[in-house]
Amino acid sequence: MRWLETGRHEKPERLVAISSNRMREGILHFGYKAGICLVFAALLPLGAAGAATVAPDSVRMSDGMVEASLSGAPGDPAAGKKWFTGRKLGNCLACHANQDAASQPFHGEIGPALDGVADRYSEAQLRAILVNSKAVFGDATIMPAFYRLLKDQRVRKEFDGKTILSAEQVEDVIAYLMTLKE
Ligand code: HEC
Repeated sequence: MRWLETGRHEKPERLVAISSNRMREGILHFGYKAGICLVFAALLPLGAAGAATVAPDSVRMSDGMVEASLSGAPGDPAAGKKWFTGRKLGNCLACHANQDAASQPFHGEIGPALDGVADRYSEAQLRAILVNSKAVFGDATIMPAFYRLLKDQRVRKEFDGKTILSAEQVEDVIAYLMTLKE
């Protein structure tokens, strides 16, 4: 017991107060460190995914072309084929036929067949068509704009203020379309 060793007659309550103070400092210190770690942990994925992504409102289109990758990286053609044929996201097949996806049921014929589309359009042109088909084909086109914010439109709630495809998904679809050569 400290007050016995030092000869000072400190009351036990004071010791308790000291040790609980130390503990509080310890917790505060730990909390501070943990807080810093959390901040970094929260920033890391953002930094990785968000760094080069072009926001829908900031896409630069000129002469029917969008030169820069929306995600800052090349897309993945295999993933792109998935979005292309998937019935939920791109659903391109609802309107476009395409030999490469011939095994998929229910091809639409509302839009032109996309066979050899990479021979007809450059990557930058395909990006523009996907980002905002209306800017390329005119407002009357029924092809959706896949990288425009869906605001004040009659859309399902989960799409409000979002884009149909993400920047990465658009790049994936472009990478897939670039494989469609004749
Ligand atoms: C609701 C129907 C519809 C959907 C869904 C649709 N498109 Fe289209 N698309 C069209 C139409 C119609 C055109 C022709 C342009 C026009 O006259 O409006 C077109 C044109 C195109 C063209 C130019 C083709 C050419 O040969 O000139 C490309 C490329 C294209 N679409 C890609 C896609 C991709 C990729 C998707 C899916 C992410 C998609 N479209 C989804 C209707 C659609």
